[in-house]
Amino acid sequence: MHFNLSEEQIMVRDAAREFAQTELLPGVIERDELQQFSDNLVKKMGALGFMGIMVDPKYGGSGMDTMSYVLIMEELSKVDASASVMVSVNNSLVCYGLEQYGTEEQKEKYLPKLASGEWIGAFCLSEPEAGSDATSQSTTAIDKGDHYIINGTKNWITNGGRSQVYLVIAQTDRDKGHKGINAFIVERGTSGFEIGPKENKLGIRGSDTHTLQFNDVKIPKENRIGEDGFGFKFAMKTLSGGRIGIAAQALGIAAGAYELSLKYSKERKAFGKEINKHQAIAFKLAEMATDIEAARLLVYKAALDKDLGNNYDTSSAMAKLYASKVAMQHSVEAVQIHGGNGFVKDYHVERFMRDAKITQIYEGTSEIQKIVISRAVLKD
Ligand code: CAA
Repeated sequence: MHFNLSEEQIMVRDAAREFAQTELLPGVIERDELQQFSDNLVKKMGALGFMGIMVDPKYGGSGMDTMSYVLIMEELSKVDASASVMVSVNNSLVCYGLEQYGTEEQKEKYLPKLASGEWIGAFCLSEPEAGSDATSQSTTAIDKGDHYIINGTKNWITNGGRSQVYLVIAQTDRDKGHKGINAFIVERGTSGFEIGPKENKLGIRGSDTHTLQFNDVKIPKENRIGEDGFGFKFAMKTLSGGRIGIAAQALGIAAGAYELSLKYSKERKAFGKEINKHQAIAFKLAEMATDIEAARLLVYKAALDKDLGNNYDTSSAMAKLYASKVAMQHSVEAVQIHGGNGFVKDYHVERFMRDAKITQIYEGTSEIQKIVISRAVLKD
């Protein structure tokens, strides 16, 4: 296992960096403040191949590896974590879930549009009473022969108001517990499917998060993903890959906050010299650089595990647990290094601090990652 990037991976990382600087940076403060989701940016990211990074070119994707995916995620997140979460959910939960476990018809129908940025997708697992405890699904999908009827509520759904394709997890047979859960494709506009209020969030405010309501939503049987009862495993397997994306997002937030702090420390003077000439600041930068490098190695390791066909349940949980901790800790330090300027929006680091928090919550809280990791280490 080595971390030497190929020429192609370096090219794609540089393209993502360029895109982040030229397209995401202008307007990022306003999008955050006004909670603006940008369809235009999604289209541009689609044109660059960022919405279907790992999707097979035969379904309109970029056919890149997971390593390229995390490189792109890091670069986008260094500037705009709201944009990168759309990319992460679309790529690793929706496209990957469909490509890996969908039927040929489902792949042909949905992947080209999702991979091009024409459409965007959402992953609907969380409920008012089923966040971490994901097997306790209240949403039901009753089997009616050639179709299912879905009823229930989903909460905190990323891309919730803007998607055309929703992967919905629901209970079909309560007696079977998690083996009675299924995953379904619900298209926007299906009768009875309503998009509820948009959440007013602490961070990633430029992303679109909604409650969704399903009232007697009739969907054809061919919209089920996988065998009957596969839904919970579908969610778990898909989320393992999703956690690599969010770990890369957290890494990018930390790295973005660090890069701005380093730059600021060379410009800002106090007591007659640049602030990085004071050990108090130099040591903070040293710790940031070290922790970010450690997080990067864990993120790369998880991506490589996936690319090599190794099990990545544990490495993705470790990468997310650690990178999100580093993002939170060092985005706070970045504000501290910036002093009063860190507390105002123009310097960006207060946004990184607010955006960092969600990486410890979504796609499995840090406590859930510790459950996954501790079960793995205690197994032997
Ligand atoms: N791969 C395959 N199967 C898996 C699996 C995995 N990674 N993890 C668990 N399973 C299987 C188990 O083997 C078990 O199956 P069997 O009975 O056949 O052996 C079944 O799933 C149930 O597993 P557990 O007994 O371990 O279930 P549990 O109730 O103890 O829960 C959990 C496990 C890890 C805590 C899980 O509930 C979990 O991950 N919770 C967090 C959910 C989450 O991440 N939500 C995020 C929402 S999505 C989101 O945030 C997207 C967004 O918009 C950004």
